[in-house]
Amino acid sequence: MIPLLLLHAFPLDHRMWDEVEALLTGFPAVFAPDLPGDLRRQEPALEAVADAAAEQLRAAGIDRVLVGGLSMGGYVALALLERHPDLVAGLALIDTKSTADAPEAHANRLRVADEAERSGSVDVVRPMSGVLLGETTRALRPEVTAVVDGWIGEQDPAVVAWCQRAMAARPDRTDVLRTFDGPFVVVVGAEDTVTPVAAAEHMVQAAPHARLVVVPRAGHLTAIEDPAAVAAALGGLLS
Ligand code: MLT
Repeated sequence: MIPLLLLHAFPLDHRMWDEVEALLTGFPAVFAPDLPGDLRRQEPALEAVADAAAEQLRAAGIDRVLVGGLSMGGYVALALLERHPDLVAGLALIDTKSTADAPEAHANRLRVADEAERSGSVDVVRPMSGVLLGETTRALRPEVTAVVDGWIGEQDPAVVAWCQRAMAARPDRTDVLRTFDGPFVVVVGAEDTVTPVAAAEHMVQAAPHARLVVVPRAGHLTAIEDPAAVAAALGGLLS
């Protein structure tokens, strides 16, 4: 029986997994930490987040785990796989990508980080639900937009800045996938414009045994927009 580690997206927290967790069966334990946890006083680095997660799991007596990461959580999952391959029994990369940022995206992250820090507010990321959620969700389910807006509004500006700088510094980790031979599923919302279907296909091409699940009528936050589809994909790792 292998537990599950769920790694959340930016600028959100563990609550984005609540509905998925409620639908999961068969896992002896599910861990959904808030990132970056205690690391926020250290230099921003996703590698440190991965190392801390590995340390906490090992301290709890866990030496194999299934890992599901959505977007930023996927970047952390890839760092975990690179640095602690023995720990990762199976992988679900959801609405994420294995490549590094293009120069403009990198520069924009640093701008957002500086602005969150300077203003001491999350105003700079407050409009993000407009790009994170798919067009169908935005058009038909305003209550979902309201929940995501509420969660974004409750984030700590210092954590927003930390995460942006950590994501900006991440390298291309596509090669990490080439040697992974455990169960591997790539999930992407058909309406994801942040890490689109092409980014998912790129990861699947790197690991030909990977399964690709395209979730219709969902955007970049499939775990929130279609929790049943994501729970099914995670459950599939067990078999
Ligand atoms: C996320 O959903 O975690 C972010 O959109 C990831 C990113 O900014 O690359």
